[in-house]
This record gives sequence, structure tokens and C-alpha cells, in this order.
Amino acid sequence: MGGSSRGSWTGHVGFVLAAAGSAIGLGNIWMFPYRTGQNGGAAFVLVYLAAVIAVGVPLLMAEVLIGRTTRRNPVGAFRELRPGSPWLLVGALGVITGFVILSYYGVVAGWVADYTWRMATGGLATLETAGMQESFEALVGDPVRQVAWQAGFMVATILVVSRGVEGGIELASKVLMPLLFAFILVLLGYSLTSAGAKQGLEFLFSPRFGELGWDGVLAALGQAFFSLSLGMGAMITYGSYLEDDRGLIGPAFMIAGMDTLLAILAGLVIFPLVFSFGLEPGAGPGLIFVTLPKVFTLMPGSAFLATLFFALVLFAALTSAISLLEVVVAFLVDEGGVGRSAASWGAGGIIFALGIPSAVFPGFLDGADAIANKYLLPGGGLLIALFVGWFFSREDAARAYGGQSGDDSGFELWRFCVRFFAPVAVVVIMLKSLGLLGG
Ligand code: TRP
Repeated sequence: MGGSSRGSWTGHVGFVLAAAGSAIGLGNIWMFPYRTGQNGGAAFVLVYLAAVIAVGVPLLMAEVLIGRTTRRNPVGAFRELRPGSPWLLVGALGVITGFVILSYYGVVAGWVADYTWRMATGGLATLETAGMQESFEALVGDPVRQVAWQAGFMVATILVVSRGVEGGIELASKVLMPLLFAFILVLLGYSLTSAGAKQGLEFLFSPRFGELGWDGVLAALGQAFFSLSLGMGAMITYGSYLEDDRGLIGPAFMIAGMDTLLAILAGLVIFPLVFSFGLEPGAGPGLIFVTLPKVFTLMPGSAFLATLFFALVLFAALTSAISLLEVVVAFLVDEGGVGRSAASWGAGGIIFALGIPSAVFPGFLDGADAIANKYLLPGGGLLIALFVGWFFSREDAARAYGGQSGDDSGFELWRFCVRFFAPVAVVVIMLKSLGLLGG
């Protein structure tokens, strides 16, 4: 009933593309290739795949069905499912997490926008291979330039969200997701025919289990979590705009599949090029801001490819930022009766202001990122899994799972994962990242 007044997807395709847009972001293109390189190549990828299937997909489904059942933002959803209980604080935690993550995500996306602009306007030609590190440091050390790009990125995010679920978020995803895949295929054509192709593929696909270790396993779990946008109600919010009640297994695997595919494709683009010019593949945070731009300065006539690459990262970041802002906006619209446009500009403006310290003090950005990844997301994900696994009666869970269609294929396996596997895995990640598990 209330569904149409708060907006809805035009159908499952719109939902799947928007959710994939949320999932595919800086986590895929920057973090995944770097972590794969550091943790034993295909050994990391295999554990990552297992984590996506056994923890990520079940939790993704749990979030979507909370949203679909209640047609509410995370706070309203928990309140409706357990009136008068403290569970709504889990939703509130998600809204707060949206503020925290988007504040610094906007700054990093601003760097990407700055690079896209420089590559597109011929700035690449003036860059020196050797000076790339200094060039990146100059950007990170320039608050005005960073805040200007951050502001531009936030305005783009706000404009999309203020246009609503169908006319804004779904439309943006339907335009940007295909472009993103098209861009990466073009880049793939270049990287796979480059001199370093063989070495790059070997680096990515030969399993070196000796380099994986316990840390690598946990990094793979954490990566699955962040990459699928889990633990803060983004998928509750997107699920709340689903009007029909079809089975969720298909869409969940499609979203996770697109997310994983893009992460692997990003690695397939980056590593062959990096090896072609004898650069360091495990450069960490500098991989796309220093190492890869070096590659582009060394490749003749690559301004076009460089622009394509950074534009694709920018699109990925934009559709992720949209989902972060939408969690906050849905909360304000549902709970506060605020108009969508006012909510978008108000919340977006506050988040922009909260991000300024991250642009001015690099330590602030790292701190906010650490708080979100170590505490807020795993904590939220654990509570969501416990809620659906243990505080939902079996009947309620079955009804929510099957929707009106009553399709319960995979229900038992899903419930087992949500009750046991996901909470245990998340607790282990949290203890480990808090340093409480030794090693
Ligand atoms: N998944 C996105 C990425 O890979 C980031 C992101 C968007 C996110 N929304 C989220 C992460 C919600 C956690 C929760 O970059």
C-alpha cells in the first residue's frame, strides 16, 4: 500500500541493477585486486568465493527480505517487526554508519573525479612517471582541491537520490552499470593483449596457498562483506522498494555474481598492465592512484584508456554512494515525514560537511574507515543475522523468505547459514580485527 508513495523499482531488473550498483564500488576496483595480490592470488579468490556464497549471499537475502516484508527504512523495519523492542537500534546503527562511510567515501571519490578530469583534459601528458607519487601526495595535501571535488561528487549523488527510487536511483544504475561493464571490457582488450598479460594472469590465478594464511582468510571474509554492501541496511532499504514477492535466491546470486565478476575483471585489467611495465603489483592504497597512472604515462597514446578507467571507477563509486545516502534519506522520509528532496539535500549537505575533516587530515579518513569496517559493519551484520536467524520464528522467516509466492527453495540451507555460519564467521572477523584472537 504505502509502497508506491515512497517509491519502488519498476521490477526485478531495476532492483538487481541498483543493488549491483551499490555493491560494485571502490571495494571491487581498488581493494580486491590489491588484496588478491597480497594474499596468495587464486588462493584468496577461492576463499573469497566461498565467503560470498556461504556468508554474503545469505546475509544479502536476510537484509532484502527484512526490507521487502516491511517496506520500510532500516529503523522503521525493525520497529515494525519487533514493536517496542531495542531492535530498532540496529536500524539506527545502519543510518549512522551511512553518515560515517559516505563522509569519507565522498572524499576518495573526489580523488577519482580529479584523476578523471586530469586524464580527460590532457593532464596525463604533463605528468611524469617518476613524479606520480608526488602528484598524488600533492592532491591529498591540498584541502581546497579535495573539498571542491568532494562537493561536486556529493552534489551528483544528491541529485540522483533526490529524483527518487525509479526516476533517480534505478535510472542512474540502468545507465551507469552497462557503461561500466562496457568500459571494463574495452580496457580488458588492451590489458590481455599487453606484454604483461601472461605474468598478470599467473599472478592473479595461480593459487599460492602458502601466502594466504589466517589473515588472508579473514581479509577475504571482510572483503565479501564490504563489497556486497552488507551490515548497514543498504540492502534492507533497497529491498523495501521491491513490490513483488518473487524468490530472492536468483536475484541475490545475480547481484553477488556481478559484484564478484567485476572485482575479478578489475584485477584482469590492472595486473597485466602493471606487469607490462615492470611495476610493483602489491602497492596497496597507491595501486590505482600511483602505480596504474604510471602505467598510463608509459603507454603511448593511453590518455583515452586512462580516462576510461577513471570514469569507470567514478561511476562505480557514484552508484555506491547513492545507496549510502539512500539509507539516510529513506529514514528521514519514512520516519520524519521529510520530503525526499529536502531529505537528500539536508542529509547530503551534513555528510559533505562531516567529510571535510577527512579531506584535511588523512588520519581522519583512515580512522573513519577503520571504525566503519572493524566495528559498525560487522556489528550491524552480526545483529541482522542474529535477528533473522534467531529472533524470527521459523514460520515468520519462512513467510518472509517465500513472500506471497511461497517459493521456499533453498530455505533450510539459507536459514542454517544465517543462524550459524554467518554469525560465527562475523564474530571471528570482529575478534580478529580487534586483535583479540591473537596472531
Ligand atoms: N560496496 C561498496 C564498494 O564495494 C561500498 C558500499 C556501498 C558499502 N554501500 C555500502 C559498503 C554499504 C558497506 C555498506 O565499494
